[in-house]
Amino acid sequence: MIELRDVQVTAWTPDPDGRERVVRLLGPVSLTLGEHRVAVVGANGSGKSTLARLLNGLVLPSAGTVTVDGLDTATRGADVRRRVGFVFTDPDAQVVMPTPLEDVALSLRRLGLDDAEREARARDALGRFGLGALADVPVAALSAGQRQLLAIAAVLATEPDVLVADEPTTLLDLGWRAHVDRLLASLPQQVVLVTHDLDAAVRAERLLVVDDGLVAYDGEPAPGIARYRDLVARRHEELLP
Ligand SMILES: Nc1ncnc2c1ncn2[C@@H]1O[C@H](COP(=O)(O)OP(=O)(O)OP(=O)(O)O)[C@@H](O)[C@H]1O
Ligand SMILES: [Mg+2]
Repeated sequence: MIELRDVQVTAWTPDPDGRERVVRLLGPVSLTLGEHRVAVVGANGSGKSTLARLLNGLVLPSAGTVTVDGLDTATRGADVRRRVGFVFTDPDAQVVMPTPLEDVALSLRRLGLDDAEREARARDALGRFGLGALADVPVAALSAGQRQLLAIAAVLATEPDVLVADEPTTLLDLGWRAHVDRLLASLPQQVVLVTHDLDAAVRAERLLVVDDGLVAYDGEPAPGIARYRDLVARRHEELLP
């Protein structure tokens, strides 16, 4: 169970005159996320990634608390991150090792397997994402979509209790997008999916619409998506000449 209580995230930002001032990026937000499938949608810059990153302690609240199964992300960050796997929007922010095999093997290190078992598991994980033949190729040689698949493979291989995925399919072709959508839908663990893919969002049990750093809608996906479409249409109407 994920709990956010009176959470706010603020940051220091320079004014045009060079002075620093505090801006609110998110909140106040209070949420209890227990559903198996939670989708988060919202405009660019609305605060979705900030919200997602709070869930495994990548971002810490400036006020309020975030707990996962009772563990406070501010004080038990390492324990929280062992439970909550996080797939970044940008795979390059996540993939750190020179080859796909080494990257997945690194993720598996904390499972305490011997080297042979770890390599076998890593090769198996890569094979399931169509990367078997690329296991030993430099990561930089992979296409952007292949790197995104690698990032997903590396996180799923650790079998986290909760998966938070921040736009995990943005770089994927039609086939792999459908594949990852189906895979995420079939996982036994809780999944919090940040997405601009409204077809994927509507299949969740619960939808959050984030707008201007606040949760503007929280409930059944279909009406929330209709609300989000209206909001975006109105805003862009105002922006067009
Ligand atoms: N130091 C800072 N000063 C000012 N604004 C900031 C600072 N850090 C982040 N922000 C703003 O916080 C907001 C939240 O960003 P976030 O990455 O959560 O958005 P998002 O909903 O994930 O957007 P996208 O759909 O583009 O990924 C953005 O508008 C960003 O510009
Ligand atoms: Mg984002």
